[in-house]
Amino acid sequence: MTVMVTGAEGMLGNVLLQLLEHKKIATIPVDFNSKHGAINADICNPEQMFSIIKKTKPDFIFHTAAQTNLDLITGDKSRGYKVNAWGTNVLAAAAALYNIPIAYISTDYVFDGTRTEPYNEYNTPRPINEYGRSKLEGEKVIRDLCNKFFIVRTSGLFAPHGKNFPLRILENAKTNKELSVVSDQIFSPTYVYDLAEYLITLLDSPLYGIYHFCNSGQCSWYEFAKKTLQLAGIKNCKVKPVKSKDRPSATSRPRFSVLRRYKLELQGKDNVRSWEEALKDFIIIWKKQNS
Ligand SMILES: NC(=O)c1ccc[n+]([C@@H]2O[C@H](COP(=O)([O-])OP(=O)(O)OC[C@H]3O[C@@H](n4cnc5c(N)ncnc54)[C@H](OP(=O)(O)O)[C@@H]3O)[C@@H](O)[C@H]2O)c1
Repeated sequence: MTVMVTGAEGMLGNVLLQLLEHKKIATIPVDFNSKHGAINADICNPEQMFSIIKKTKPDFIFHTAAQTNLDLITGDKSRGYKVNAWGTNVLAAAAALYNIPIAYISTDYVFDGTRTEPYNEYNTPRPINEYGRSKLEGEKVIRDLCNKFFIVRTSGLFAPHGKNFPLRILENAKTNKELSVVSDQIFSPTYVYDLAEYLITLLDSPLYGIYHFCNSGQCSWYEFAKKTLQLAGIKNCKVKPVKSKDRPSATSRPRFSVLRRYKLELQGKDNVRSWEEALKDFIIIWKKQNS
């Protein structure tokens, strides 16, 4: 089996490749401005992508490439639509033409955050920002064009590399005695290694459709920051809770975007560990990297 990974040098793509290679599965890494040996290609370019897919003939595509800078997309929505909707359109069309199963990674930000109970796969998306809207358009085009698709919504990704919240907190704690962090946006953090292990189980699955995957439990960004510093043993930096209204941002974010892994529950397979347990593994690696 040969598996294509778009966004191969991003936070999730990188880990997916590591795990696939560890399992001796052949990979076709694709990324924009590749610095680490992926095929240099723009998913928004149909000629390029159709030609690569025709030549390499993957048996499965993990589509993780995205424009993930929310404020950039809020400032110029065509930047989000270009990659997240049009780029996904190109891949969906190629996957459909060559009958290749595709897994598209989507987001909790397709929901509006007005619920107080976790969102399951059957709840209706209603994004409140341009990032969420562009990712939802990506979902639609996958559903419209492909027969063999997975849409996997996830949230709050963290890993010991890449751009993510706990790494930023640990970095900022080096030079600050106090960090103000939003306490009224609730979500489920997701360790990229746990997500990647789950995604790899889809390679053999004919159970196409929409799924939610995140670590168990939920927290605010404030609680996530506090736990990160506590597990790292950092005592000389305090975390102060602040309300979203006191931290004006260009991008509106859902107040509550906890995902329920309902389809895993329905199959009796919902045994995902808690985000706190996963964070302990993250800290072990972070400590090694920083010793
Ligand atoms: N991060 C989160 O908390 C989160 C939460 C929910 C869902 N997700 C979804 O999970 C997926 C993975 O997220 P991530 O955080 O790993 O993303 P990431 O680190 O930003 O990686 C995305 C990768 O895609 C590449 N890319 C962007 N535009 C491209 C294009 N036109 N052609 C080819 N490659 C392109 C980027 O390259 P450049 O760096 O050169 O732009 C980057 O290497 C995304 O689909 C995202 O929407 C993420």
